[in-house]
Amino acid sequence: MSRPHIIILGGSGNTGRMIAELLLQQADVDLTLAGRRLAKVQAVADELRQKHENRQISAIQVDAGDLAGLEKAFARADFVVVSSSTIEHTRFVAEAALKAGIGYFDHQPTSRDKIATLKSLKTRIIEAGCCFITEGGVIPGLPAMLVRYLAPRFDRLESAQVAFVMQDDKAPSPETLIELKTQWKQYQPLVFKQGTWQLAEQMVEFDFTESFGTKPCMACYLDELESLPKEIASLREVGFYIGALASNWFMRWVARPITSLIPTRSLGFRRLSARLLSWGIRFNPPPYLMMIMVEGRGWCNGESVFMRLRLSHPSSYFVTAASSVACLLQYLSQDIPPGLWYQADAVDDERMLSDLQRLGVKVEIETVASH
Ligand SMILES: NC(=O)c1ccc[n+]([C@@H]2O[C@H](COP(=O)([O-])OP(=O)(O)OC[C@H]3O[C@@H](n4cnc5c(N)ncnc54)[C@H](OP(=O)(O)O)[C@@H]3O)[C@@H](O)[C@H]2O)c1
Repeated sequence: MSRPHIIILGGSGNTGRMIAELLLQQADVDLTLAGRRLAKVQAVADELRQKHENRQISAIQVDAGDLAGLEKAFARADFVVVSSSTIEHTRFVAEAALKAGIGYFDHQPTSRDKIATLKSLKTRIIEAGCCFITEGGVIPGLPAMLVRYLAPRFDRLESAQVAFVMQDDKAPSPETLIELKTQWKQYQPLVFKQGTWQLAEQMVEFDFTESFGTKPCMACYLDELESLPKEIASLREVGFYIGALASNWFMRWVARPITSLIPTRSLGFRRLSARLLSWGIRFNPPPYLMMIMVEGRGWCNGESVFMRLRLSHPSSYFVTAASSVACLLQYLSQDIPPGLWYQADAVDDERMLSDLQRLGVKVEIETVASH
């Protein structure tokens, strides 16, 4: 049987190139790296070819906004990993994948438009026998999976709160920042309480160890959490929270004051703002760390139990790549059937966590029981 051939759209990006490297290390696959600028994907492909001589690794120029180009690029692939900030082109990418009869995975920000587009194609995805996995990566991607991991460790899990914080000095491209900002505007501060999803009344503090200390965090609804209260009948409270992102002197005194004066109506001005903010990220002070944790409260053997599981790594891009690859390894071993899935629903949580640890993500678990 020939090796699976995976095409990575955005193969020259911060995350895409790490996914490529990890995939070559962890799976017997061939790769095509795709992006609009051929020289960039070509340079990454050349570097990878030197380290992985026995694999087919190529580069191709393709724009996610060009349906015919996507169809041509996907014709010789078995699977597409969408690692590009191209949510606006989800329909083209998904249609081209369906036409080629290949699988699909994205780790883009959570997006109502993206999810709606993919759901509108669900019947065709199933009829074609394809496996489409969306909402991959860390945020979205891990929160619901972490709650599922904790649940069987309790006789009765009553509350599960997931919190995330990160600080990096490696900036996403201005386009990726614009996409993030656009999606961020759609986020709703909803948590599940008293039998319903409701607006969070206040910020909640989480302990991010000595690295970040205790930080107030803001609630943020993710679609992947929706099914948890039905699935885990004892769950009375569930939520996902984000800690304030880092700031630095450049952002505070230069970038933000200037960008607040730049009109946001035109794309050109939005790009200018994003370029300034993207540039400002390099002034972020250490520690460079991404931490995601779940805190569970409930009962075990008649005792009240608090359990906390923390995942951390110096690079948020690495954890996004590692989570994506850990999910793809389950797809490649045929453990994820055809259909449309969220990463958090598709994966086996025990295997996912053990793979993340094996790939270098620090995993710590602590339990406190009281009578
Ligand atoms: N779920 C999570 O936990 C998580 C975490 C981090 C990032 N993300 C998301 O992951 C995506 C990638 O982030 P990143 O920081 O790695 O991005 P990045 O470094 O900015 O790279 C973006 C990549 O996409 C390519 N690209 C952009 N527009 C394209 C188009 N129209 N057609 C084809 N390729 C295109 C770029 O190459 P060219 O410019 O040459 O085309 C580049 O290779 C973003 O959507 C980001 O928000 C998610």
